[in-house]
Amino acid sequence: MNRGNQQKPAHVTTRRLLDMKEKGEKISVLTAYDFTMARILDRAGVDVILVGDSASNVFSGHNTTLPITIDEMIYHARAVVKGVQAETSRAMVVIDMPFMSYQLSGEEALRNAGKIMKEHECDAVKLEGGYVIAETVKRITDVGIPVMGHLGLMPQSIYKYGSYKVRAQEEREAEQLLEDARLIEEAGAFAIVLEKIPSKLAETVTRQLSIPTIGIGAGGSCDGQVLVINDILGLNREFHPRFVRRYADLDEVIENAVMRYVEDVRSGSFPSADESY
Ligand code: KIV
Repeated sequence: MNRGNQQKPAHVTTRRLLDMKEKGEKISVLTAYDFTMARILDRAGVDVILVGDSASNVFSGHNTTLPITIDEMIYHARAVVKGVQAETSRAMVVIDMPFMSYQLSGEEALRNAGKIMKEHECDAVKLEGGYVIAETVKRITDVGIPVMGHLGLMPQSIYKYGSYKVRAQEEREAEQLLEDARLIEEAGAFAIVLEKIPSKLAETVTRQLSIPTIGIGAGGSCDGQVLVINDILGLNREFHPRFVRRYADLDEVIENAVMRYVEDVRSGSFPSADESY
């Protein structure tokens, strides 16, 4: 990130997020996948922009996050980093490591994490998983690449779960999640996303960890919250999960604008003399 301009606010770092947790300041996180949206998010003051592999769903139209490739993630990441740099350069940018880019071996995971970090100036990578990937997380953080963890509902494992229902409602899975969170913290992660788990469990994890927890469908006790940008803007009419708060209805706004444009082109009222050379 270009931090040369003295006028710009301080870039959000892993240290800053830890300070925020210690001071009880909540962390705001949203996803973005392109330059234009990243500019708006950074300007609006979001602390962290996640280039989520949810791009696979909301950008590419796949049913799951599994098909997106590392090169596609890098493509989105590059655009987002440029968007942040074009504004205040304040927001931290975290990139999701896609399915099968880190599961095969620690060496391959490190190579891919390095590729993501080298191809543009992002701040960190995010990996889904608990004890199974703890060694990999350690390997990546040991060379200086910050890692954000992701526990609870892990969309890359959707075929194993068979549904998107709330995770860790039973004691055994809840205990495992708590243990996984400790292991991922010990492995060097600077924050952990907790997706779709009971609020009480998220509260316990948040209390027991010294790194921030970022919740999505995990209640208000987490140190921060993350949502998919398309969901808060109402860009997907059919998607109404309980954990999403919708701040706009852009699906309708855009459809109406496009209908008016089509009408104006058809009627010949666009372009007018003022809109012509
Ligand atoms: O891919 C994504 O957008 C995510 C968030 C929902 C946490 O992982």
